[in-house]
Amino acid sequence: MKLVVGITGASGVSLGLKFISLLPKEIEVYAIISSSAKVALGFEQNISMPNNSNITFYEDSSIGACIASGSFQTDAMIILPCSMNTLAKCTVGISDTLITRVFSVMLKERRKVILAPREMPYNTIQLENMTKLSSIGVVIAPPMLGYYSQQQTLDEMENFIIGKWFDSLDIEHNLYKRWEG
Ligand SMILES: Cc1cc2nc3c(=O)[nH]c(=O)nc-3n(C[C@H](O)[C@H](O)[C@H](O)COP(=O)(O)O)c2cc1C
Repeated sequence: MKLVVGITGASGVSLGLKFISLLPKEIEVYAIISSSAKVALGFEQNISMPNNSNITFYEDSSIGACIASGSFQTDAMIILPCSMNTLAKCTVGISDTLITRVFSVMLKERRKVILAPREMPYNTIQLENMTKLSSIGVVIAPPMLGYYSQQQTLDEMENFIIGKWFDSLDIEHNLYKRWEG
């Protein structure tokens, strides 16, 4: 599987990096971190950059990168966290950065895209943007806590959310205990 991960300047950049580090090593990961995400990361807990050999990092300004073309075959994209700025650009088709360009390519190629919008509360424009993207097949999956698998720590809470994103991408995992009724 070839997976593009866009990390934008919303709270939870460290969660995006943790997501990448937990991905199975057989997945080829193309990771893009926006300049605002790098600023936001400075305000978050100290997390080191994943450096597994299956991960390639790109600058958000690298508009000529291979992943910017539909001829380069990838399977899916997740933007995590997705800022309201990037959400708005994706909704109207602006593709002035590598992240928004790849998003636009994924749409035209009818590939799987997941957005994890991070804001609280959402305003009406943001909700309308999410509704529009959802109506054309984009999966809207914000970082939402669940309590049924009885997580005790922040690490376990994060694993629950990351496990839900893995589920959306059909990636096998053991990150949270599933509901069994
Ligand atoms: C510490 C910090 C936290 C931020 N958190 C959020 C957030 O949770 N959601 C959001 O939409 N924007 C947030 N922002 C604002 C975005 O970073 C800003 O709108 C930026 O233009 C997004 O650029 P990008 O979409 O290219 O990454 C935050 C900014 C900083 C510095």
